[in-house]
Amino acid sequence: MTLTVNEHNLHKSVYLVAIPLYTPAFYPVPDNMVSENAGNREKVVLAYSGGLDTSVAIKWLQDKYNLDVIAVAINVGQPPSSDDIVARALRNGAIKAEFVDAKKEFVEEYIWPSLKANAMYEDVYPLSTAIARPLIVKILVEIAQREGAKYIAHGCTAKGNDQVRFDVGIVSLDPSIGIIGPMREWVMTREEEIEYAQQNNIEIIVKKENPFSVDENLWGRSCECGVLEDAWIEPPEEAWGWTTNPKDAPDEPEYVEVEFEKGIPKALNGEKLDGVELIQKLDAIACKHGVGRIDHVEDRLVGIKSRETYECPAATVLTLAHRALEFLTLQKDVLEFKKIIEQRFSQIAYNGLWFGVLRESIDAFVDQTQEFVTGTVRVRLFKGNAMVVGRKSPYSLYEEGLATYAVGDEFDHKSATGFIYCWGLPNRTAAKAHKK
Ligand code: ARG
Repeated sequence: MTLTVNEHNLHKSVYLVAIPLYTPAFYPVPDNMVSENAGNREKVVLAYSGGLDTSVAIKWLQDKYNLDVIAVAINVGQPPSSDDIVARALRNGAIKAEFVDAKKEFVEEYIWPSLKANAMYEDVYPLSTAIARPLIVKILVEIAQREGAKYIAHGCTAKGNDQVRFDVGIVSLDPSIGIIGPMREWVMTREEEIEYAQQNNIEIIVKKENPFSVDENLWGRSCECGVLEDAWIEPPEEAWGWTTNPKDAPDEPEYVEVEFEKGIPKALNGEKLDGVELIQKLDAIACKHGVGRIDHVEDRLVGIKSRETYECPAATVLTLAHRALEFLTLQKDVLEFKKIIEQRFSQIAYNGLWFGVLRESIDAFVDQTQEFVTGTVRVRLFKGNAMVVGRKSPYSLYEEGLATYAVGDEFDHKSATGFIYCWGLPNRTAAKAHKK
């Protein structure tokens, strides 16, 4: 529903559009569209979502900084806007507006490397918002370079991690580009933004005010603000947008089988799928079973603790399955060392240092460990819970002959006492010495 806000319809229409519940598998993809008007000022590339903030920012950047605005909408798997946001950016004065479908690149260059690293910030958050930011930055920088734009603008606030990820990402890729954060500079409330839009004839879609701040992409949904700011209050059902409440999930469990090649998921339930499809299909199944809800108080880079809920159904199942396959195929020392690296990887991704030598080097290490992480994992989904119940691999290090307590035992029992003698020797020695 498109609304041109004017004095007559503002009050009646502002709160009309309900926020739909959807599962991520069914997002239609808007048509790619590039269109051009003439401009003659310095240019700024705006990370544009079609929402109130970035619609207002088009006009604000022209007025405040005398810049021509190139609006860029990047799809990393979030639900589409209810109208053609690209055309609306042009109607709102952008000299050029571009839609980039980046889902495939998001999966292959950001999600899979993170999955191989079992990335989980503070052990619980699969970094869904965090790892999409560097990709968005990379595309903005490429467009700025192509268009000869001197500036990039984004709609991040001054209190979050995302501004860090944008700003540090941009300087890491092209330090010559200037950065403008309109939302950090203006002091408009939501109501004042609507008024500004009204005064300046900016066409906006005015939705029923969402009490939460939500960010969505293929890897998950982040939700904060509103009643969630009280860390003691259980997240209300409205805070969840993707997943079925586990109490209403099917009464029968469902099994999924994920096939990995060198750490990358290649097939779901025996069907070979490309990464985007695999994640979308798995999301739909896991959402139905209420899997992937996370409630966390996390440490932002800017020093603030914040409470956020996440829904990461596919990320939860795939990370669980991937780890299970690693437990089957990697040696103990590799697992132990990789755990440290994984933690560091997660901090790097969270803290906006994606484009750096350390992450690239960690990627190389992680890739090396994935050489034999090939095989299939079976996961049982039931009422909000995902549990690995089977795993197999041509490179399995699990040997039944060594593990069994039944017939066919191949373990050399005689070696046990000698090994234990040596293993316990330091303690034996210390115990004697300390008695003195
Ligand atoms: N806290 C998460 C992060 O920094 C998500 C931030 C965006 N969340 C939101 N609800 N807009 O990665």
